[in-house]
Amino acid sequence: MTESPRAALPSLNSPPGDRLEIVNGWDADTPYQSWRPQILVPPTFRQASAPRVFVVVNQKGGAGKTTTTVELAAAWAAAGHRVRVIDADHQEAALSAWLLPQYPEGSERHSLRSVFFEDCTLAEATYPTLFAGVDVVPSSVDLQRVEYERPIGAEQGLAAALAQEAEEAGGRSPYDVTLIDAAPSLGLVTVAALTAADEALVPIKVGGLDMKAMASLHKTLRSVQRKTNPKLSVGAVLLTAWDKSTFARQLATKVSEDYPEAAVVPIRRSIRASEAPLSEEPIRLYAPEAAPAGDYDQAAAVLLPGRAAA
Ligand SMILES: Nc1ncnc2c1ncn2[C@@H]1O[C@H](COP(=O)(O)OP(=O)(O)OP(=O)(O)O)[C@@H](O)[C@H]1O
Ligand SMILES: [Mg+2]
Repeated sequence: MTESPRAALPSLNSPPGDRLEIVNGWDADTPYQSWRPQILVPPTFRQASAPRVFVVVNQKGGAGKTTTTVELAAAWAAAGHRVRVIDADHQEAALSAWLLPQYPEGSERHSLRSVFFEDCTLAEATYPTLFAGVDVVPSSVDLQRVEYERPIGAEQGLAAALAQEAEEAGGRSPYDVTLIDAAPSLGLVTVAALTAADEALVPIKVGGLDMKAMASLHKTLRSVQRKTNPKLSVGAVLLTAWDKSTFARQLATKVSEDYPEAAVVPIRRSIRASEAPLSEEPIRLYAPEAAPAGDYDQAAAVLLPGRAAA
C-alpha cells in the first residue's frame, strides 16, 4: 500500500477568555444569568494515564456520542498520543463515515464484526484514517449479527481482543488511548464495549434530556460494574450542545450528584459541530475556532494529560 499523507491535527490557541474555567465546586447561589460554563472537577475525580480504554456511552440517540469520540480522539492525537477509535454502532456506523478508514487495495476488508466472530484480530481490523495519530476499527450494519447470532463469549469478546493484542505487543497496548463509540441501545455489543473499557464517558444533550434513559443508563453502568467489569469508572459527563439556561444549570447539578467522581464538562452548542461530519474532518480541523473544538480540547487535557505533560 502506498501511504497517503495524513493531515496533522492542529493544536488550539484559543484566546484565554474563550477557555472554560475549571472549578471544583459550583456556586449554587449564582443566578442563572451569571452562570458561566465551567468544568467541574470534583475533589474525588482521578485523572487517567495511558494506556486507557474509554467507552462513550448513552443509549439515548443523538446525545453527542460520535461527536465526543471524534473530538476527544483528535484532541489526544494533537497532544501526541496514539489513538484508536472503535465504531461499535451498527445502526449508523456514523463514526466510520466521518473518519474514513483507509483500506489497503486488494485485500479483504475487516470490521468490528470480524473481531467478535474471531475471523481476524483487532489489529487486522484497525485501519489508518486521513489524520495522523488516529486509527479506526470500522463497522457496518452487519455488526448487528452479533446481537442475534450471539457468538460464544461475545460479552467478553472486545476485552479479550484488547488483552490479546496487548500481550502480543509485549504487555502494553500499542495505543495510548482507545475510544469506543457505543450504539444508542444497550445490546450485547454495548455491554461488550462497557466490559472492555476502563472508563465510561457519558454525553448528555442539554435539551434532549430523558430522565428514564438517564436512570436506565445509571442502572446499566452499576450492573456492568457488579457483573462483568468491576474496574469501570465514570470519568466524565459531557453536557453537549450546552447553552446558558436554568435548565442547563439544573441538569449539571443533577449529573454531578448522580456521578460524584466524574468531571462535568459543558460543550457549547455550535452549528459548526453539526456541519463537521459532512466535511469528513473533526471539528478541530474543520472549524478550530468553534467553541466545541476548544471545549473538547480542555476536556481531553483534564481527563488524560498530553504526552508532553504526562
Ligand atoms: N456541541 C454541539 N453543538 C451543536 N450540535 C451538536 C453538538 N454536538 C453534537 N451535535 C449534533 O447533534 C447531533 C447528534 O450528535 P452525535 O451524532 O454525535 O450523537 P450520537 O449520540 O452519536 O447519536 P446516535 O445515538 O444516533 O449515535 C449531530 O447532528 C451532531 O452534529
Ligand atoms: Mg453516534
